[in-house]
Amino acid sequence: MPTILAIESSCDETAVAIGDSSGRLLANQISTQIELHQPFGGVVPELASRNHLTTLRPLILAALEESGLTLSQLDAFAATAGPGLASSLLMGNTAAKALALANRKPFIAVNHMEGHLLSPFLGRPGGILPSVALIVSGGHTMLVHLRGFGDYRLLGRTRDDAAGEAFDKVAKMLGLPYPGGPNVEKMAEGGDPAAYAFPRSMLNSGDLAFSFSGLKTAVLYTLQKIPDHQREAELPNLCASFQQAAVEVLVKKTVRAARQADERLVTMSGGVSCNQCLRSTMATACERAGLQLLVAEGQHCTDNAAMIAQVALEKLARNQTDPLSADVDPNLRLAE
Ligand code: KG4
Ligand code: ZN
Repeated sequence: MPTILAIESSCDETAVAIGDSSGRLLANQISTQIELHQPFGGVVPELASRNHLTTLRPLILAALEESGLTLSQLDAFAATAGPGLASSLLMGNTAAKALALANRKPFIAVNHMEGHLLSPFLGRPGGILPSVALIVSGGHTMLVHLRGFGDYRLLGRTRDDAAGEAFDKVAKMLGLPYPGGPNVEKMAEGGDPAAYAFPRSMLNSGDLAFSFSGLKTAVLYTLQKIPDHQREAELPNLCASFQQAAVEVLVKKTVRAARQADERLVTMSGGVSCNQCLRSTMATACERAGLQLLVAEGQHCTDNAAMIAQVALEKLARNQTDPLSADVDPNLRLAE
């Protein structure tokens, strides 16, 4: 049974997974750099790539140990080729290519967004099914019509900030620590989601595009009007109202996309899909609309290598391997 080792290093997580073509995950190692970047309030590309370099070797060894396999038992080596930070992508790519070369096995380049797109199907029986997917991560927010493996149609994307980026920027302006998304969610827990009427940008734009930069600016203007001594007490209300506005647009447009594409299955993936408010609001809306919802498992929402291994195994089954000369592409697209 074909078995693959896959590396993910597109941003600030170093991850190595080993999977086989039956869908079994034999190893899933991840090393996060959150603490490294926290003092800077965001990812510093040079620090990220240097850390990938030192982390990759021990992580590959840990993945081999977890799987009980040796390098010679693997059938291919894969890595994320984009989108992401060029210097970070190069680390994982070079490692996977070196392993492929030394072991005389094929190399497979994987699109990070295709990893997120297919992650809701990871480890589930039935394989990849026609569906409408909402991908909400730190760098991207898009709706995709998935008609089969490799057959993707972009239905809509953000015109400015990604949803995760908006969470991160709002967190920064409110003085919450990096990474912003989970901290905004935590702060929102005690807040009133109706305290501030923030804009539902592009909700009625007539298409499936998103915009989150106006929402972020609205939070900033509201914050500036709150006297300094009241700001801390208002943080839960600001976070809850911001989260509510972002979630409402994401959910309503996803349901509309499913109707337009005439699909009954909706999937959701990417870091922001960890958000419980988004998960529960999406679940209620899908149920009301008679749609089935499949959300990526918690550990597969944020960046991981299991999703890269899954795509690589699908590509290997179709003999879609890549030359060792293949370059990384920080702006790699999923679908037009
Ligand atoms: O998919 P991901 O790990 O990396 C990218 O490919 O971008 O997504 C990271 C993003 C960050 O913007 C982070 O703040 C956001 O996902 N995120 C969340 C939550 N957990 C992570 N946003 C809102 N609520 C969360 N619980
Ligand atoms: Zn990602």
